[in-house]
Amino acid sequence: MKIFIRESPKEGRLWVSVRDNGRGMDENEAAKAADPFYTTRITRKVGLGIPLFKASAEATDGSFEIRSKKGEGTEIAAMFHTSHIDCLPLGKIEDSIAALIFMNPEMDIEYIHECCSNRFKLDTREIKKVLGDVSISLPEVVDWIKEYVRNGLDELNGGVGNEIS
Ligand SMILES: Nc1ncnc2c1ncn2[C@@H]1O[C@H](COP(=O)(O)OP(=O)(O)OP(=O)(O)O)[C@@H](O)[C@H]1O
Ligand SMILES: [Mg+2]
Repeated sequence: MKIFIRESPKEGRLWVSVRDNGRGMDENEAAKAADPFYTTRITRKVGLGIPLFKASAEATDGSFEIRSKKGEGTEIAAMFHTSHIDCLPLGKIEDSIAALIFMNPEMDIEYIHECCSNRFKLDTREIKKVLGDVSISLPEVVDWIKEYVRNGLDELNGGVGNEIS
């Protein structure tokens, strides 16, 4: 799974893309995916992940797109206008990434975040290589990941807040 975030404070835009090599969807399934009442979950009747993501992008006059191929994978991408009054803050990304890794320790997750020609990258395959037999979902490791991401993002955004726009 690949998470790609790009911020352009100058353009006032933010791009988020999530790509996987999972089971994918055919055209018909992909078209329905943004419908809150479409879900293949058996535990509940609504699926809000994609509709909420789409709505939060469109609330900023941004855009949303699903590209999927049955049996190959899916990419979900959105663009946000960050200066729009209805643009939601990204929040604590380090918590989201850490939770994602903690809940899916067997999944390979790559997270790339770009801002102002700076780039931060985290690849769980590299972390797992270093860890050897130690589980990536160990609380100490998850805490380390959280801090690593936080520090990386602070560095990425270093100075941006001080720019005159
Ligand atoms: N990455 C994906 N690959 C394949 N199918 C997907 C993917 N994402 C969503 N779908 C399909 O689209 C449906 C709707 O997705 P959505 O994320 O909106 O809801 P959900 O995953 O069912 O539930 P929730 O996100 O609320 O936990 C899913 O049930 C699944 O059938
Ligand atoms: Mg979902």
